[in-house]
Amino acid sequence: MLDRIKDLTAQLNRHNYNYYVLDNPTVSDYEFDKLLEELMRLEKEYPDFIQPDSPTQRVGGEITKQFTAVAHVFPMLSLANTYSVEEIEDFDKRVQNALLQKVEYVCELKYDGVAISLVYEKGRLLRAVTRGDGIQGDDVTQNVKTIKSIPLKLFGDYPDFLEVRGEILLTHQAFEKLNAEREDIGEQAFANPRNAASGSLKLQDSSEVAKRGLDCRLYTALGENLPVKTHFESFTKLKEWGFRIPDVLQKCNSIEEIKTFITRWDAEREQLLFDIDGVVIKVNDIFQQQQLGATAKNPRWAIAYKFKAKRALTPLLSVDFQVGRTGVVTPVANLQPVLLAGTVVKRASLHNNDIIQQFDIHENDWLYVEKGGEIIPKIVGVELSKRLPAAQKITFVSRCPFCNAVLVQKEGEAAIYCPNEWGCPPQLKGKLEHFISRKAMHIDSLGEGKIEMLFDNGLVKLSADFYALKPEHLLGLEKRIMGEDGAERIISFREKTVENMLAGIEQSKNISFERVLFAVGIRYVGETTAKKLARYFKNVDALAAASKEELKAVDDVGEQVAESIVQFFNTVENLENVVRLREAGVQFEVNAATEQPLSHILDGKTIVVSGVFSIPRDEMKQKIELHGGKNSASISKNTDFVVAGDNMGPEKRKKAEKLGVAILSEGEFENLLC
Ligand code: IVH
Repeated sequence: MLDRIKDLTAQLNRHNYNYYVLDNPTVSDYEFDKLLEELMRLEKEYPDFIQPDSPTQRVGGEITKQFTAVAHVFPMLSLANTYSVEEIEDFDKRVQNALLQKVEYVCELKYDGVAISLVYEKGRLLRAVTRGDGIQGDDVTQNVKTIKSIPLKLFGDYPDFLEVRGEILLTHQAFEKLNAEREDIGEQAFANPRNAASGSLKLQDSSEVAKRGLDCRLYTALGENLPVKTHFESFTKLKEWGFRIPDVLQKCNSIEEIKTFITRWDAEREQLLFDIDGVVIKVNDIFQQQQLGATAKNPRWAIAYKFKAKRALTPLLSVDFQVGRTGVVTPVANLQPVLLAGTVVKRASLHNNDIIQQFDIHENDWLYVEKGGEIIPKIVGVELSKRLPAAQKITFVSRCPFCNAVLVQKEGEAAIYCPNEWGCPPQLKGKLEHFISRKAMHIDSLGEGKIEMLFDNGLVKLSADFYALKPEHLLGLEKRIMGEDGAERIISFREKTVENMLAGIEQSKNISFERVLFAVGIRYVGETTAKKLARYFKNVDALAAASKEELKAVDDVGEQVAESIVQFFNTVENLENVVRLREAGVQFEVNAATEQPLSHILDGKTIVVSGVFSIPRDEMKQKIELHGGKNSASISKNTDFVVAGDNMGPEKRKKAEKLGVAILSEGEFENLLC
């Protein structure tokens, strides 16, 4: 069996390499999934045979409570930066003068992400460490293992020791998906992909990291006597060893070629899948690099040319105040459309009142809009010379533009809220849209437009209202819409549409409790927290009755989340809605058949707990089950190990020792799960 596991691991790693490194898949997704399924099945049956480079290790599941500081083998220096081409010319002169010979350069993109050092020993990924202060960084290996383009095991004639450095980043697509999900649960969106990548790399739960879809671009290979003479050649080797190498790399033999590279990528950077903030120019010959050496901070053989952020000046037409599902009011500037970095910008978020105040924005002001590392344009200033003498200051609305409620600001928070949670149309519609969304109740037959119609006709206000809908309420319901051609059209619900809508609603009664819990829209309770809460409390009654302290015993639940849950169940409207949803047949308790484990670490293991722990004994048992283990009351030869708390019974200890059953302390057990 070990041979089959090794063979499947190698096959799947080769397919991953073809897909992620060579961009040339040689099997269909279906075939790949079949092989992966077989491997997962075998690994479950024979956990001792799991290979360290198994592709199943990439889904994460390891929890890192605190990242350990690790010293870098070679210090991680940074690059000297410049915004001027003249300084690149000076750099070239310095290099030529020092070496007194012809110099070839390699130009690369300067990836705007988070630096990472990957250490391979005997071809296996041993450690992934952040830059930190350049001398030591944080060990983020478990999180980095989830990045599929980073090999866990190398191919070919790799050296015994190899350190590869690069930049961890998020593509624009992954970034937008992540932010949409965060906004969905009322969490602050990340300002740019770099911040998002950096935050993701420091998450404690590696299975969360796996979902974020991080990527990596490499820029340096280090080691003793690497079989290469030039920087460029090192990429050829890296590719042979299994790494995905950058698509854009260019040898340049003159300053003119370097300038052409800079101009090209300054103009074309918007077409890349990820952010760059400049280009890097490096001496190609490694011996020449060594001759040039480094200052205390920067190597003398490389320099970064940074792009200036792209900026446009355009007049403000008006400011809209939008209200989201959670009631937060966001001011949005409507701008005279202007071309900026390849796209037409018409709107820019003003985020909150602080920004309006900071720039002292007036009506019809001409605003500077910038696209730096971020994709979303931001307002960076006002052209005061263009301000009209009579222009009035823009003030934040004091009442909700949709329901007229007086807005409120919580102390210490920048956000301004509409408190009318149950009477403000965009908040109610936002809650309904969230409820039916794909990751929640997944009712595809309802959508934004349909919800609007149902809401405007007074048929649904709260999610439980969906379940009271009857065909006669819906048939023939009409809405007038204005087509793009300016002509008015009437859309109405026909029989087939109504049938689909009701069938979708009916089917959602099978959706698991954890997703229902996400769907009901408790602030700060995202998909993962909902999952953990559902598994811990098992049903909504236990959850609703839990105190803040009890809630905080659940992984990932801190003060803010606990407070929000308590508040949710203290609100009559929520309680009534939950009761009505439950009466309609929506799942409010876990169904053992659909419960997913947190990890497979304890699969097949029979465990006995004995003594007093830092958490209630029931919770300890629950933890064991959630990680795949089985609890047993008495020690026998079938017991894999005992978790011993304080005051473990002496009889039990004696029996365990007699049968040779291992005894783990609570701490040792926790370490096993991390
Ligand atoms: S080479 C000795 N190449 O920019 C420094 N760095 O301060 C060698 N970066 O921390 C770095 N793209 O994380 C290099 N193509 C590239 C890069 C790059 C991004 C980052 C790197 C470094 C920072 C420069």
